[in-house]
Amino acid sequence: SIYALILAGGAGTRFWPASRAARPKQLLPLVGKSPLIRQTAERITPLVGWERLFVATGKHLVEQTAEALPELYAENTLVEPAARNTAPCIGWASFHIARTNPDAVLMVLPSDHHVRDVAGFRFALERAVASAARGTITTIGIKPTHAETGYGYIELEGEARGVEALPATRFVEKPDAARAEAFVAGGKHLWNAGMFFFRVRDMVDAIRAHMPALAEGLDAIDRAAEEGEEQAALDKIFPTLPSISIDHGVMDHIDHFAVVPGDFGWSDVGSFQTAFDLAEKDAQQNAAPQSALFVDARRNLVLDLRTGAEEGKRVIALVGVEDLVVVETDDALLVVPRARAQDVKEVVAALKSRG
Ligand code: GDD
Ligand code: MG
Repeated sequence: SIYALILAGGAGTRFWPASRAARPKQLLPLVGKSPLIRQTAERITPLVGWERLFVATGKHLVEQTAEALPELYAENTLVEPAARNTAPCIGWASFHIARTNPDAVLMVLPSDHHVRDVAGFRFALERAVASAARGTITTIGIKPTHAETGYGYIELEGEARGVEALPATRFVEKPDAARAEAFVAGGKHLWNAGMFFFRVRDMVDAIRAHMPALAEGLDAIDRAAEEGEEQAALDKIFPTLPSISIDHGVMDHIDHFAVVPGDFGWSDVGSFQTAFDLAEKDAQQNAAPQSALFVDARRNLVLDLRTGAEEGKRVIALVGVEDLVVVETDDALLVVPRARAQDVKEVVAALKSRG
């Protein structure tokens, strides 16, 4: 059988004031009307069903996550007492499922990405699941369009071609600009889309081989769970697990793995500019996934992220302006030229130093 795990514990500052530690990117409707995590779940429930869909998130995000995914089974929410990056939660899910179903295939998906071609995405997923079922840890690789330093790269044995899983030789997490350029020019590297597919027994073995300290902690949590003491063990042990990504903790160390070339309009929605590019636009090329009024305005992005009831909300109207990003939240308002949206990090810094 096939299980899915959505990773939903990350935090971010690139989307201030939209994203906060208390409301990270996956909980925001950055593209379209529903939060990115909801769009992620809807893409995969036709393949796995809610009863085999797990979500790993932090204690402080549980309520908002449940609000975004009311169908999610409470017992399928893996609540991390402390954020320890992705290896511990992927390990936790793998050890947990392996207890009853070691041959099950688990697909691990980031919660905060956008996919344009959902049918193409599922097609790639099916190939990756088939490869994982044959006993090979499998990833999905996206053909790079530029020398991005914010992604991991997967090195192939040969050229990237076809739709089936190909043997991969190496995993290079976030290279510097010079290496990234060489990778793009060489044609033998794909972007790591952050999705992982494996039989849970294979991940358990890989963690035992390459992260013995993590294996030891997860075994202890397992033993406690069998005695009905899981929560106490989690609270005690989870915060002490090695804080490391699955990329560095496992993928960097395994001898061989596979990659399915994916071509389905993938984006990690890394900036307001990307959110604008992906959004539906009106005739004047304005994007307002929630709502806004435009008069003689062009190419603006308006994100209305206020909580609470629609009625009674102040109206947002843009008149005679172009190429702006306007973000309205309960406690902050941002107005910035689209081309300078990266500079919001200066606001975050200024607010921090103000204390
Ligand atoms: N549950 C949980 N707990 N989830 C986490 C944690 C954690 O402690 N830390 C991160 N995540 C989730 C994030 O919410 C996101 O969905 C996913 O794991 C990946 O984490 P990011 O922090 O977004 O990683 P990244 O974007 O820097 O890099 C990864 O993704 C790239 C593609 O977007 C790597 O896998 C790269 O190699 C890859 O190219
Ligand atoms: Mg990311």
